[in-house]
Amino acid sequence: MRPVARTLDEATQAPADGFLADVLEGLSRPAKRLPSKYFYDARGSRLFEAICDTPEYYLTRAEIEILGDHAMEMAAAVGPRRIIVEYGSGASIKTRLLLDHLDASAYVPVDVSRGPLLAASAAIARDYPKLKVQPLHADFTRPFSLPLGALGRSLVYFPGSTIGNFEPHDATALLRQIARAPGCDGALIGIDLVKSRQVLEAAYNDRDLVTAAFNLNLLHRINGELDGEFQPGRFSHRAVFNEAASRIEMHLVSKIDQVVGVGGRSFSFRAGESILTELSHKYTLDGFSDMSSSAGLTLTQAWTDDAARFAVVHLVRRAA
Ligand code: SAH
Ligand code: AVI
Repeated sequence: MRPVARTLDEATQAPADGFLADVLEGLSRPAKRLPSKYFYDARGSRLFEAICDTPEYYLTRAEIEILGDHAMEMAAAVGPRRIIVEYGSGASIKTRLLLDHLDASAYVPVDVSRGPLLAASAAIARDYPKLKVQPLHADFTRPFSLPLGALGRSLVYFPGSTIGNFEPHDATALLRQIARAPGCDGALIGIDLVKSRQVLEAAYNDRDLVTAAFNLNLLHRINGELDGEFQPGRFSHRAVFNEAASRIEMHLVSKIDQVVGVGGRSFSFRAGESILTELSHKYTLDGFSDMSSSAGLTLTQAWTDDAARFAVVHLVRRAA
């Protein structure tokens, strides 16, 4: 058999200067907030993987169960594909379960966390020698172009319920972007399903405080990269289920009245005031199907774990 060329050339399309501007803008709001994508530097990515191993965080185990049980059906549903484009690929662990069944020739993992992206890509290239692995260091919410060589019919793979980290309006825009991506006519997306407050809040408040460390890592990143003067010990982690909005809302709460410098500016915090750091929406299949439909995608099939905690859905571009 002819050896298939594979490269690990990374394309970088991540904007370099957005972090400071986004932090200054977010902390200037009357209700302070920061974009959750900034959790993910090398330490943040490691902490996310550690969250996945906590007994409370069922999402990863449930999604892996679904892939273990149904990856072959998923491969049959999506049909032959040359390219898999993965949004927010992280450690690319779940991807392996799909790659084992899809006859793909190229894999384009897209992530903002550069070191972990390159490490995961190298591991995939080693274990799937026929696959052309072309990591893309980029923010998937902005238009990006696929690396040269990744031409042909593609499937967007978007696991983890990372889509749930976006407001419904932004999640719809992301789905619309997927629907309009050249060469792409379908997607497999992982979504977390609505369940009891008790189970949800436990998943985001693990006993070993790994999620708390992940949340507080944002302040460490601001200190390290933006000349921030946060004292992380003066903030506490809070994650609550907002039932009306069907989402976990994660905050960093100021323990005291304080003033914090960042990038030459000062920001005041009252005791009890918080920074909203992450939303994590929990869907019903009907609700997600409606949202997809308004973005030009039709939900054709859904697979859940035995306990119906999580779903992987197949979306196809609606015929014009
Ligand atoms: N897909 C993996 C990882 C999920 S964690 C899993 O299912 O386990 C979310 C991942 O998305 C992180 O690796 C993070 O760096 C990445 N990410 C978050 N927002 C992003 C954005 N706007 N653009 C690109 N990557 C993003
Ligand atoms: C990546 N994302 C789907 C995770 C979630 O569950 O919203 C991030 C996370 N935040 C706290 N724990 C895990």
